[in-house]
Amino acid sequence: MSLRVAILISGGGSNMMALTRSMRGDHPARPCLVLSNVPGAGGLAKAEGLGIATAVVDHRPFAGDRAAFEAALHRSLSDHAPDILCLAGFMRILTSDFVRGWEGRILNIHPSLLPRYKGLHTHARAIEAGDAEAGCTVHQVTDALDDGPILGQARVPLLPGDTPERLAERILPMEHALYPMVLRRFASGDRQPVYLP
Ligand code: GRF
Repeated sequence: MSLRVAILISGGGSNMMALTRSMRGDHPARPCLVLSNVPGAGGLAKAEGLGIATAVVDHRPFAGDRAAFEAALHRSLSDHAPDILCLAGFMRILTSDFVRGWEGRILNIHPSLLPRYKGLHTHARAIEAGDAEAGCTVHQVTDALDDGPILGQARVPLLPGDTPERLAERILPMEHALYPMVLRRFASGDRQPVYLP
């Protein structure tokens, strides 16, 4: 019996597409839902094009009431009984109450070499600091932001004249290689971190 994976997005969904495309053949999991907190997010139409169920739980009507938003999110997810949640460009911070309800079953991709640069604007901060390398990290989600056990990292060198946009262009394909690799291992019960290249 395949494991069921729900993917949470807020935007275009390129990581979501990489994940769904990888879940074929002898992969131990299959996508069961793509959910967005942003109505009309580009990734929703892409998921529908692949025949995957979609849902929207818009956070705005909850006007900052996180508990109410997360209760609605939990209900919508539970309708599809996922075993694993993959956050893929999902731009809402989840509270510890929510995370506890899905303990050990939530993955996230973050565009930096954690533990460096938790939060936003990661590429600009790496450039500003004059780092030699940047990259992305897939980690398990805990109740501390961008802090859970690391399951995979991919790194790229910083080049002279790099801008956050150019760096993002070089890192995104690494995300699309890393996240599916980690998901397959995670769904097979393997928690050993993987490093690219
Ligand atoms: C990715 O860079 C991811 O690391 C970050 O948000 C971006 C989402 O891109 N958290 P997409 O929606 O998967 O294309």
